[in-house]
Amino acid sequence: MNITVSAPGKLMLFGEHAVVYGYPCIVTAVGQRMRTTVDLLDTPDFIVDAQDVDIISYKKKMTELGIGAMPKGVQFVEIALANFSKKYQLQPGIHITMTSEFSSQFGFGSSSASTVCVIQACAALMGINISKKELFDLSYQTVLDIQKTGSGFDVAAAVYGGILYYLTGGKVIEPLAIKNISFVVGYSGSKSDTPAMIADVAWKREREKVKVERIFEAIATLTDDAKKKMEERDWERVGTLMNFNQEYLRDLGVSTEKLEAMIAAAKQVGAWGAKLSGAGGGDCMIALAPSDKRKVVEEAVIKAGGQVIDVSVSAEGVKIEKPIQEFKAKP
Ligand code: PMV
Repeated sequence: MNITVSAPGKLMLFGEHAVVYGYPCIVTAVGQRMRTTVDLLDTPDFIVDAQDVDIISYKKKMTELGIGAMPKGVQFVEIALANFSKKYQLQPGIHITMTSEFSSQFGFGSSSASTVCVIQACAALMGINISKKELFDLSYQTVLDIQKTGSGFDVAAAVYGGILYYLTGGKVIEPLAIKNISFVVGYSGSKSDTPAMIADVAWKREREKVKVERIFEAIATLTDDAKKKMEERDWERVGTLMNFNQEYLRDLGVSTEKLEAMIAAAKQVGAWGAKLSGAGGGDCMIALAPSDKRKVVEEAVIKAGGQVIDVSVSAEGVKIEKPIQEFKAKP
């Protein structure tokens, strides 16, 4: 028996870092998806194939799930299954095949999306009607087990899709009724480790508590404002709020020269606003521009050394791509 499930990646629009400390953020699911096929096996084996991250026929016994060293490319799905099996009975063996529509080089959340896919696929195969919240909770627990830190915004995007107003741990997951918004996304050529960037900000907060708390409060206020302005489709104001958010992220010390150059270039040729997206220290910037300026903004980002990535927003959350296929025994 097997099933194929897919889940979207994500892009942070507003509120990164502050969200880790209980303030709100706005995240969108993106069109690029992780796709996972789960086959039930007769033997008690756990097998993973994920060619995109050089995992070919990784194999261990189901009884060793989550125990001992494991390559980075299987960590999330293995711990996800271990967590799932603490709650629900798993069939004798599992073979997972993962493919990705986006490079794991970009911070689009491939680990969280694959975690969500595997849990959803196993639940469907075992005939368990898992709710979105339970899927979120099990997946977020998996991310915390591995990363020890993080708000879970990427898990929420993978489960629910769309554009979400979000509070850490899924305390609030509110879908915003927005579809037709188009960002220019530019990759800066390198990516920092997200937990390391979170630790840098924690260290800064330790030393300059009052200043950093003020920055978080200002980011929270502008994120709430951005939610309203996005719902009103006041894109010019949304762009201005992105610029404010970027100033605070710079103050937190998570921007880079390259990101700043790409952001400045986008604004210079007419973007309403631009900011880094995610933990910073590299990775991606996003710009919001009137549709007639989109092309020149893309060119400006490229000229500043960025790689423009074609990304659609407000994508659908986790979904079953290919329903359960039964294998008939050979006569
Ligand atoms: O690096 P990314 O794209 O996964 O974004 C991290 C965003 C943070 O707010 C810094 C961390 C988090 O888990 O919310």
